[in-house]
Amino acid sequence: MKYFVASLEAFTPNQPILFEQDGVRILLALKDSKVYAIADKCPHLGTSLMKGTYDDGIVTCKSHGAKIDISTGDILEKAHLGFVKMPTKKAKMFEVTITDKKVYVEI
Ligand code: FES
Repeated sequence: MKYFVASLEAFTPNQPILFEQDGVRILLALKDSKVYAIADKCPHLGTSLMKGTYDDGIVTCKSHGAKIDISTGDILEKAHLGFVKMPTKKAKMFEVTITDKKVYVEI
């Protein structure tokens, strides 16, 4: 099902927007002038990615430092404790559509 998130103007560089519907939390953000959506749940242990940092299309989880590309969900840097890297799955992505400068996400 497709849900309205916000107008396109609401998205500014390096400022993610949180969308929540029926208990599903989604982080949406701009990367290279496109809007992408990933689950607001770190694929490592589930920390909210909105609590982390976001810079130039990469979200960094605050718990163990996993770095995730929001345009692909790929893990650019695994979660780690000190120098010990921990298995980190790819992040769950959601489809984004933009119609008449309105951003929608498919859940
Ligand atoms: S919960 Fe996100 S890196 Fe561990």
